[in-house]
Amino acid sequence: MTSLRTLNQTWRIHNFGLVSNIITAFFLLRCINKLYYNISKYGIFGSIKRIYYSIGLGILSIKYPKTKTRGNVDKQILARLEEKLIQRDPNSKGYLTLPKEGWSVIEVNDELEKLHAMDHTRWEDGRVSGTVYHGGDDLLSLQTEAIGKFSVSNPIHPDVFPGVRKMEAEIVAMVLALFNGPSGGVGVTTAGGTESILMACLAARDKASVERGVTNPEMIIPETAHAAFYKAAKYFNIKLHEVSCPAPDYKVDILSVRRLINRNTVLLVGSAPNFPHGIVDDIPSLSNLAVKNKIPLHVDCCLGSFVVAFLKQAGFPSPYEDEGGFDFRQPGVTSISVDTHKYGFAPKGNSVLLYRDRSFRNYQYFILPNWSGGAYASPSMAGSRPGALIAGCWASLMAIGESGYIATCRQIVGAAKNLERAILNDPILCGNLCIIGHPMVSVVAFASKNGQIDTYDIADTMSAKGWHLNALQSPPAIHCAFTKPSAESVDVLVSDLRDAVANELHKIEERKIKGGINSRQPGDTSALYGIGGSISGNVVLSQFAEGFLDTLYKT
Ligand SMILES: *Cc1c(COP(=O)(O)O)cnc(C)c1O
Ligand SMILES: *[C@@H]1O[C@H](CO)[C@@H](O)[C@H](O)[C@H]1NC(C)=O
Repeated sequence: MTSLRTLNQTWRIHNFGLVSNIITAFFLLRCINKLYYNISKYGIFGSIKRIYYSIGLGILSIKYPKTKTRGNVDKQILARLEEKLIQRDPNSKGYLTLPKEGWSVIEVNDELEKLHAMDHTRWEDGRVSGTVYHGGDDLLSLQTEAIGKFSVSNPIHPDVFPGVRKMEAEIVAMVLALFNGPSGGVGVTTAGGTESILMACLAARDKASVERGVTNPEMIIPETAHAAFYKAAKYFNIKLHEVSCPAPDYKVDILSVRRLINRNTVLLVGSAPNFPHGIVDDIPSLSNLAVKNKIPLHVDCCLGSFVVAFLKQAGFPSPYEDEGGFDFRQPGVTSISVDTHKYGFAPKGNSVLLYRDRSFRNYQYFILPNWSGGAYASPSMAGSRPGALIAGCWASLMAIGESGYIATCRQIVGAAKNLERAILNDPILCGNLCIIGHPMVSVVAFASKNGQIDTYDIADTMSAKGWHLNALQSPPAIHCAFTKPSAESVDVLVSDLRDAVANELHKIEERKIKGGINSRQPGDTSALYGIGGSISGNVVLSQFAEGFLDTLYKT
């Protein structure tokens, strides 16, 4: 008996040992497999960095719980930001509950006029990068009229608003033609570039899931791709691979894209151009990879929109013209996002997403045949949508027309070329600033050339002069996305930039004379981005961003 039990126990222990050995071996195999995967994708140093980063993030989330009070630096910046964003005018009242009795039209209009006239960065004087792309009075009043006429409309009821359905279909057709849509090409309108990108990623994910059985979807994007791709990855649970865009051309590194492609890849991405530097990625090479591996390729023309499409006709070089272009002429390109509310000059809340064929578009549709509310179908994120904005978009496209867009392309890209030429040739600017890559469209990004001047100090000086340019990170740089209003004031921009650089040089000289190396006070932009770049910095910066978003809802 005893010996039998002992034997039994021994067997059990032995057996447990065997199981645990198998588990250990399996675990080790997985680790080795993962390590091999990481090293083959990111190289040895890249892998170490990623491991360090993920361990660091884990520790930090323990060390800095979300509720921890913010550091001093960003508390100060946040206070200044709040002061700037929330204008507390002692003469104007806040309204936190409904008025007991409705106001008269005159009262409402008076208050609207005050809100409209609040102290703001002057886009009207052409001092703002991007943001307001046209701003002309004639176009604005046409749009207002169109919006007014269709303000009750909702494309979810095409029988009630047949005119809106017609306009929406025509907007898609017109934009499809601009980007050389193939026969069978289709599209949808959306509320903006972010929604267009979200939908392109969702359709690619679900297509791969249904047709190829991909359960762990991944997409490969340039590190300069728009934040909307990161949002899509987060919302739709797609693993993201960011590929570096190295100097000197700052285009996505094609070899790295190729190495990252695997059976889980559902989408490749390129920008034409990207937001940070206005650089067009190597779309022909991405297209080759897409065709060879049978993977969809999205080209983000949200920003480029009606400017990148008209470069050739406006007399500028068009990206990859000799290699078949950057749009549907490339066989690998399966979807393109185009923001009609950027250089299409439509009112905000308009964008178009184009697909090579309807097999892609069908995957973004949402259909609930047996809903208790009746069979339901909607093409994109929203249910009800503002038909008024579609009318505003259609009116803008028709009023401006091809000749109008060619003329504005000439004006806007011409201004970008003027800034570029000034930075390359002006005696003060060329010694101290350099251009990031070779921009071909409407955005010019520049940075301090030799590190003598801090790029962010120039950004702060320009802000103090009333400019709203964009400060970029990794590498630190500033950009201006030219629009119709800012193209008209490019000469003032150049001369203010010259003053800003001269001023910084002067300050450096002064500091040298005083001998104080540490006497430089970091400005707001430096302080803000100075925090970032490290693991703990990103946590602090995220908390700061949370504070910023909270500020938006303070009454
Ligand atoms: C503006 C932009 C988008 C989309 O932004 P929205 O603000 O959602 O319209 C996407 N990609 C690029 C390159 C952009 O500049
Ligand atoms: C609708 O159909 C799906 C299956 O297609 C089912 O799972 C679901 O319960 C149905 N819902 C209703 C309200 O009938």
